Amino acid sequence: MPHTDLSVSKHIPAHVAIIMDGNGRWAKEHGKPRTEGHKEGVEALRVIVEEAARMGVKYLTLYTFSTENWKRPHEEVSALMELLLNSIEEDLLQKNNLKLQIIGEKAKLPTAVQQALQHLMDTTNANTGMCIVLALSYSSRWELTEAVRQIAQQVQEGILSVDDISSATVAAHLSTNFMPDPDLLIRTGAEKRLSNYLLWQCAYTELYFCDTYWPDFRKDEFHRAIEDYQRRERRFGKTSEQVND
Ligand code: IPE
Ligand code: IPE
Ligand code: MG
Repeated sequence: MPHTDLSVSKHIPAHVAIIMDGNGRWAKEHGKPRTEGHKEGVEALRVIVEEAARMGVKYLTLYTFSTENWKRPHEEVSALMELLLNSIEEDLLQKNNLKLQIIGEKAKLPTAVQQALQHLMDTTNANTGMCIVLALSYSSRWELTEAVRQIAQQVQEGILSVDDISSATVAAHLSTNFMPDPDLLIRTGAEKRLSNYLLWQCAYTELYFCDTYWPDFRKDEFHRAIEDYQRRERRFGKTSEQVND
């Protein structure tokens, strides 16, 4: 099939969120330990990051480690933290003019990981290309609970009145307040659930589920997801006639 350049032919989602799932099952199928699946997942990540940036995606939000993933065996959690420390290449970020951001409960991460990520956020802060957002020790319920806490605190201190609380107030207190809601959410690895990811932000996001395990998710699969998105009609509660006027 000839390679079609989707970025010039149709509109590209400004914000793509991905649940990178299936590393463990990929490893099992290849007779390898789960950690090898995570390592191979990093390779897929490199390809997708560069392709998304090339196509003109503005924000790429990657579910990298959930609040619930802390419950995994200690060895797997350690291997994942080690991988985080060693696999984000400053060169790749700078070469592609990419900016790095983190959402999630950063304080729970090992100090070395926090420091390495902070260094990357600082050194890429002025970059003007795509923003890579890693959701790390993240879950929507954690994020929403934090937001409620902050808002309640402001009411208690008299900074905010209850009548002034709107959905914009809630959104402003979420860790994603610096970017628009995702246009497209991709979940690899065959499961059809959100696993506590961006529940508020995905109110009107187009969902795309595929069976491919994350380590096998490469450019072609990504293009398929974008093409599928481009065929959708986003109505946001309105009628088809209204949105096409
Ligand atoms: C996703 O792959 C990576 C993380 C959750 C960190 P999994 O490790 O969940 O892989 P499966 O779902 O067990 O195959
Ligand atoms: C979601 O995958 C979290 C990440 C991809 C980081 P999980 O593998 O943890 O999700 P569940 O447990 O199958 O819902
Ligand atoms: Mg999984």
